[in-house]
Amino acid sequence: MRPILKPRVMNSIKKQKTKLALFASGTGSNVFNIITHFNNSESIEVALVLSNKATAGALNHAQNAGIQSQHFNRDDFFESNNVLELLKTENIDYVILAGFLWKIPQNILSHFENKILNVHPSLLPKYGGKGMYGHHVHNAVLLHKEKETGITIHVVNDKYDDGAIIAQAKCVIAEDETLETLQKKISKLEKENFPTTIEQFIKNN
Ligand code: GRF
Repeated sequence: MRPILKPRVMNSIKKQKTKLALFASGTGSNVFNIITHFNNSESIEVALVLSNKATAGALNHAQNAGIQSQHFNRDDFFESNNVLELLKTENIDYVILAGFLWKIPQNILSHFENKILNVHPSLLPKYGGKGMYGHHVHNAVLLHKEKETGITIHVVNDKYDDGAIIAQAKCVIAEDETLETLQKKISKLEKENFPTTIEQFIKNN
């Protein structure tokens, strides 16, 4: 007969949470939103926030939330295993790109195969690829007089904005749409959909 665990021992066998590392280069509004979303989660936690910019707002959001954060440079990322080793040391399960502009190097892609997600502010495959980020995307969408645009959440591979699409959300473009109004619509779609899509993706894996 198998030994029966005493209640006190059983309590100590808690399931580890799935750990996310967020990468961001910009203001970090998505980082803030993702941190907030998973703050009370029993299964997923934001364990690390990393940026290639020392002044990135994302790092402040992490510090305010008591989450470990760090800045890295090009050599750390592209010429060494420094960033990968940090991710391994922190037992990171998934990497989330939330406004991160550098291409992910092969060492990190191989270790996190199908476990790196990105949000892009257009309906891919439209308006993706090198140089297509932030206002460049929205300006191109407006210039081409698109009737609708949106966001794409996708798996990251070795090309810009190219991996398998997990989810898209759309919005209509008004006749008098401006860069500013479009940025607001896209930002709202990202806040509504990115954390929930991350959560669902992890559950399904
Ligand atoms: C978002 O629009 C996202 O789609 C793109 O970068 C932007 C980041 O914005 N990948 P923020 O820094 O989270 O405000």
